Amino acid sequence: MKLYLNTDLARRYADAGLLEQERLRAKDIYRELMTAGEASPDWGVTGWLHCEEAAMQRAQIAEKAKEIRQNADVFVLVGVGGSNQAARAMIEALKGEGGPEILYAGNTLSAWELVRTLQKLEGKSVYINVIAKNFETLEPGSHFRVLRRWMSERYTPDEMARRVVLTGTYGSRLEEIAKENGYLFLSFPERIGGRYSAFSPVALLALAVAGLDVEAFVAGGSAMEAELTAEQGGIAAEYAALRSALGQKGYAIEMLAAFEPRLFWAQSWWKQLFGESEGKDHKGLFPATMTNSEDLHSMGQYMQEGRRILIETFLMVDDPGAELRVQSDKAFGDRFDYLDGMDFANINRAAEKATIQAHDAGGVPCIQLRLPRLNEETYGRMYYFFMIACAISGKLLGVDPFDQNGVEEYKRSMFRALGKA
Ligand code: PA5
Repeated sequence: MKLYLNTDLARRYADAGLLEQERLRAKDIYRELMTAGEASPDWGVTGWLHCEEAAMQRAQIAEKAKEIRQNADVFVLVGVGGSNQAARAMIEALKGEGGPEILYAGNTLSAWELVRTLQKLEGKSVYINVIAKNFETLEPGSHFRVLRRWMSERYTPDEMARRVVLTGTYGSRLEEIAKENGYLFLSFPERIGGRYSAFSPVALLALAVAGLDVEAFVAGGSAMEAELTAEQGGIAAEYAALRSALGQKGYAIEMLAAFEPRLFWAQSWWKQLFGESEGKDHKGLFPATMTNSEDLHSMGQYMQEGRRILIETFLMVDDPGAELRVQSDKAFGDRFDYLDGMDFANINRAAEKATIQAHDAGGVPCIQLRLPRLNEETYGRMYYFFMIACAISGKLLGVDPFDQNGVEEYKRSMFRALGKA
């Protein structure tokens, strides 16, 4: 189920010579990334380039997920940023009936949210997975402490050992805690950064607990990997080159617009990926998102007539996975009879097409990325596509797409404020 990238409308806004130059550079960067990338420390943390290799410990994960699905009412995924976004985006969009309710913690410091989460756990059978690469981040660390205390007041140490899974790097304090308490420990590979961790154990346990098909997800990523290899960067290089050419022309913001609200958390994942990878040295397109139709009635005004510094990427879905026709009701006289017999999928598609036409006419470079449908396989393809495109794009900008020193700065300042030695 291939993804299709259509850049026809947006290319018109780029300088043709510069775009061609960026295309060639993007392909060179892709080749270097895939060959030198893993071997050379200059390329940063690139252990995620091969989906099959990143997706380690799958048998162990499948076994634990089966136990959790059988015994848990609630599964709490504790992590922030790259440690929970990829899994959350898929779970929120694809989880069906059955299995435990999935709650998220460790991604805020709001007392109200944490208290509400604890209230939801009362009387339930609870399992947790704490994900923190080096176990230094305040949000997941503090929430683990609260959840641990809450669980220890309800479960024996042996039960706790079954109910707590920790995911971190080998050698971290988190691994020691796992050993000291007999918790299952999963690998957060040192050579994979949080926002590039979708195919690693970081995301896989939660996906399996949600009943999602991990094998189909990894196969989707691998299929995109094979496609990009065969086409020397293919659509990922094309997308990165176009973003670079438009960025150099003065465009400052990329709006990722979707007409399927269940893509909300995938958009959030995308925002984190590009924002944290590219926003350095006062460079990079600012990543923003719109969920339509809702945001057409707010941000749509700005897109149409505001400052011409925006490009827009439409994340389109061919098959929404549901059918609903508007039934005729002439006697009611609501003046919506022009919709009689139409399927909402077609109505939504018409709104999407009309928006692209209107924004194009309003001077916005519009890129279209089409997904045939939303399932584990297409998420695998989409994640891999965006991760490679982002790595190329960062390198085109001349920044390191794999570090996040700016984020570390807020952490240092917060730790000082809180008196951490
Ligand atoms: O992409 C990244 O590296 C970050 O977003 C991290 O995932 C996030 O800061 C959480 O870090 P940690 O897993 O160390 O708690």
